[in-house]
Amino acid sequence: MNRLHILLISGSLRSGSTNSAALLTAASLTLDGVSARMYQGMGNLPHFNPDDDAEPLHPAVGDLRARLDASDAVLFCVPEYAGALPGSFKNLLDWTVGGGTYGKPVAWINTSAGLGAIDAHESLRRVLERTGTDIVDTACAHIPVRPQMVGADGLIDNAAIRERIAGVLLALSDHVRERAQTTNETSLDMGYAERTDV
Ligand SMILES: Cc1cc2nc3c(=O)[nH]c(=O)nc-3n(C[C@H](O)[C@H](O)[C@H](O)COP(=O)(O)O)c2cc1C
Repeated sequence: MNRLHILLISGSLRSGSTNSAALLTAASLTLDGVSARMYQGMGNLPHFNPDDDAEPLHPAVGDLRARLDASDAVLFCVPEYAGALPGSFKNLLDWTVGGGTYGKPVAWINTSAGLGAIDAHESLRRVLERTGTDIVDTACAHIPVRPQMVGADGLIDNAAIRERIAGVLLALSDHVRERAQTTNETSLDMGYAERTDV
């Protein structure tokens, strides 16, 4: 079976982030035919400016788009700040308008264990709709993660949460495979799965 590549993007730059922990835990899971990798470059992206969305691109923007192109799907995990998406994460999404996510299967895990982060996730859905992604509702989940659940290794040990995160990855990969079967277009056919440079 060809491996599917899922890019994991956390919207938090905070060390000890519960959102990053959920995705690091996703990356640590062993699932048949699925490889999930963290994107770590959000803090290196320049402020979005349409004037700069031209060759030669800032290396951090080129790197982001290459990783998006090389992935079969993207899983986001983002906190809410002051009733909205974090600015650094919205900046990342703005850089995807020029390329990388159009038609891409995407999902998110809402890890809020507090106020619910509802406004941020409504906004996330709106942005992902506007940028033409393929939102996979069956893979989107609310999995509350409390800071004390994150271990010194940055991972979540709780078995029930790990199982739910695995379920998200499986739902996302099932969607990618089903879509590939019905449309006969998959990145696997385009050779992305063999790339090891991103
Ligand atoms: C400056 C700031 C503003 C926040 N505003 C909200 C908010 O409006 N709604 C909400 O649900 N949580 C809010 N929170 C709580 C964070 O979303 C929550 O602490 C989250 O777990 C942070 O994610 P992280 O652990 O991945 O860094 C806020 C936190 C901070 C630091």
